[in-house]
Order: sequence, then C-alpha cells, then structure tokens
Amino acid sequence: MKWFKQTVFYEIYIKSFADGNGDGIGDFPGLTERLDYLAELGIGGIWLTPFYPSMQVDNGYDVSDYCAVDPLYGTLADFKVFLAEAKKREIRVVIDMVLNHTAINHRWFTEHPDYYIWKERPNNWTSFFGGSAFQFDEKREQYYYHSFAKEQADLNWANPAVKEEIKQVLKFWLALGVDGFRFDVINNLTLDLAFPDNPVDELGEVLHKFDKDQPGIDGVMAELAAFCRDLRPDVFLVGEISSDELPEIARYSRPELLDVTFNFNFGSIETFTPEKLFQELVAMEKALPDGQMPTLFFGSHDMGRSFSRLAGQNLPLAELLAFIILTARGVPFIYNGEEAGMTDLTFADVSEMADIQGIMAYEQAVGKGETKQEALFAANQKTRDKARGPMIFADGKAFSATGKAWLKQNQEPEEKVHAIFAYYQELLAFRKAAAYVTEPYTSLQLKEACLTYQRGNYYFVANFSERWQMTAPPNGRLVFGQEEQGGIAPLSGAIYLMEEENENCK
Ligand code: NOJ
Repeated sequence: MKWFKQTVFYEIYIKSFADGNGDGIGDFPGLTERLDYLAELGIGGIWLTPFYPSMQVDNGYDVSDYCAVDPLYGTLADFKVFLAEAKKREIRVVIDMVLNHTAINHRWFTEHPDYYIWKERPNNWTSFFGGSAFQFDEKREQYYYHSFAKEQADLNWANPAVKEEIKQVLKFWLALGVDGFRFDVINNLTLDLAFPDNPVDELGEVLHKFDKDQPGIDGVMAELAAFCRDLRPDVFLVGEISSDELPEIARYSRPELLDVTFNFNFGSIETFTPEKLFQELVAMEKALPDGQMPTLFFGSHDMGRSFSRLAGQNLPLAELLAFIILTARGVPFIYNGEEAGMTDLTFADVSEMADIQGIMAYEQAVGKGETKQEALFAANQKTRDKARGPMIFADGKAFSATGKAWLKQNQEPEEKVHAIFAYYQELLAFRKAAAYVTEPYTSLQLKEACLTYQRGNYYFVANFSERWQMTAPPNGRLVFGQEEQGGIAPLSGAIYLMEEENENCK
C-alpha cells in the first residue's frame, strides 16, 4: 500500500515556523531543531511551503530559482541536514512546486522569453489577486500574462522546453531525497490559447473559464506524474486545484495523475455546520474515483485559522474538528499552529500586513472611494496574513529566541495551547496504533447533529450537538474519548471497537 494513505501531514509555513538565527524569519536550522517537537506530536509527513530564492512578493510563491534555497531560510546544506534529520525521525518531506509561474527576476524571463506568454493586447482575463492579468513590458513592448501578481509571470506550458526544464527541477529534488510534491494551482497550466474573453457574471465579476482546466491539462499532469514515478515509484503527488467545484477537483485524483487533491469546499468553508461537513464527506465519497482518497483539512496558509473561523475559539469544537480529520476517511493535513489553537491575527493598519492579497484589497477599496477604515476592514477580511503569524509551540519555546518576528504575533493562553496539543497527540498516537486508517466507511450518518461512521471494526461518534448523546453501539467497547453510562458529552468525540461475537462464549 502507498505510504501516504496512512500518513498524517503537517503543513509548515517556513517563514513563520522556527527562527534559528534570530532575525525574526523562520529558517531551516530553526525547523530542524523543532523536528523533535513534530515527532512528539506524532505526524508522519511535512508539506513545506516554498523556500526557494524569491522576490517575496507572494512569500515564496514567486520563485526566482527552482534549485536553490533562499538565503532568508539558510543554504542547500541546511536543507539537506533538515531532510536527513526528518528521515531519522521517520517524517517524510513533501515540497511545494510552483510550476504555473515564476518570479519575473527568474533568469528564464530574460534569457528565454518564449517560456512565457506574450500578447499584443490584453483581453479581459483577471488575475486571481484582482486586476488585469496582463502587464506591459517596456523592453518587449508586449504584455505578459500573470494569473497572480504582476511579478509572477505565467510559464508557457505549450512550449515543450518548459516541460523539459521543469522535469530537471523535479529530478533535482527527487535525487536529494524528497518524498513528494505539492503542486501549486496545477490545473492552471494550460490555457485557451485563442484567448477568448472570459464570461462575466451579473455582478460584473470576470469568471475563470478559459484560463484553467483547458484541453491538454490531463496530458501535462500525467507526463509530470509519470516522470516523477519513474524516478521514484512511491513519490507522493498532491495537487492544489484552483476550483471549488468538487467534480473538477476530484477528476484530477486518478492513478495516472495525482494521488490526492485538496477540496476547498471541505477545508476553507467560512462557517461550520455539522450538516455541511456531513454533506461534503458524502459528496467526496461519491465524486472520487474508486480507491482514491479525499484530503481532510480545515486550515492552510491561504485561509483564516480554523480555531477562529470554524471553532469560534471554542476549544471542544476545535478538538472535535481535529477528531474529524484524524478519523474520517482521507489524508489529513494539519496546518502548523492548529495543534496550539492559534487564532487569527487582525491588523490595525495596512502597513502591518505583508500579504499581497490583503494589500491589494486595501488599494482596490481606496480606489473605489471607500474610507480608510472601510478599506482596512476589507483588507483584514482578505489578508492571508491572519493565519501566517509566528508559530506558538506547546513546549513553551518561542518562535525566535530574540523575540523578533517578521509578522505580528498573538499571545495564546498557555492552558489552551497545552490542552489542544495533548488532544492532537493522544489522537495521533491512537490513529497510528489502530487499524481503521485505510478502511472504507460501512456507515456514515448524521442524526441530530451527531455524526457517526463505521470503518472496519471501529465506530466513531462526533457529537456536535449541545446535549449528551447516548451513542454506545451494541458490542462496542470505548477505546478513545470519555463516556458516562453509554453517552458522550456535547462537542466531544468517541471511538468504539466493535467486539467480534465469540461463538464459544455465547
Ligand atoms: C496557491 C498558494 O497556496 C498561494 O499561497 C499562492 O498565492 C498562489 N497559489 C499562487 O502561487
């Protein structure tokens, strides 16, 4: 069986995780020092956000050199030490690959302009960060296409030389020993090269129709996947699909394409209800091709922190959300700090923000004539900085020994941090020892805000309701959680092992 099916992943936003040299920015030496913390927590894999040299316009998602380490984070030698130390602790390492675009200071942009997409005139396509997706280049007197910031020029995947260059990049990292890749906005690689205008909705919003999921995308993805698997048969490939349409997300999860894809309908919902959760679990089961697993996550560096956004800062609810991602069928991704109950940051001034998305929201609001206060509100809504604050460790160690931090930090009550960490740790240890992880559901139900499912011999109860629920199944022995007289408390989870009836003892 492929190892990823049993692995709990942990996303590390490198800039905010652990600062080894005291400059206020996370780095590899800091991260390596915290591997024991991760081993103690009990995760099995890391997804590391981009650490390559970058213009830092989009915090590393604007790559200037795919085969090096940004000096902000250390050296390639530091990366190798980190990788070796992770392996010693049986922690796999999956790195982020941003193949849709490079930074405009990547040498390719000047040396190989044909690796990019040039137009005499822009059409109506908009960048995913807002505004036109075309930028005029004075030297060339043409526009280049950028589906994100203007410093992130899209690569031209219709040019076979681009594919060959990228294969060398993948080979470089696989040869160093990484265990897999998280492919950034991977369904955006192909475009409708006739560049028809995108449709516009009733609100005047330009839709993304011809700038993603275009013919040829399956072929490109399959070629990259096969290339990686030839070099490393057990490589793990997880795709970020820029879409909130489940069928679109699910169709890229196929043996010849990606192992799993992120479903944002599950992970980045704005508000939580047990009904929504249940519907999405059911929908994922239906939408995914046979044998493919969903991903399960409630946070990432691109959305508000689940402790604030979904749990309303309610500790038992946050624990119950952890219970879901660690016991439902799927590949879980914990976002760093979730296990410490970290909360959203809010900013008193736009100058405190670093995320381009928040800053652009501010500028656009001001441009529309909104007051500074209104613009700040819009920016606080949009900024992904809210989830990118320096890490809080349950072992009491600080993000940076000097107390410096590149972004504002929240203080979190120690008691909460310890309680939620202990819950994750206990459940992760239970999950490792139990035999349900690859079992399908034999039942999946929601009744009175109480979600139950059976997988193999294990029966799970997640009580989202405000009252005690009598939940113990006949022949069930409680193996995780607490119950009293066959019932469990509001906002708590329990696991029962179904005892096989022993013929001789009947
Ligand atoms: C998705 C990444 O998660 C996000 O942080 C980034 O801004 C965009 N892709 C563009 O690379």
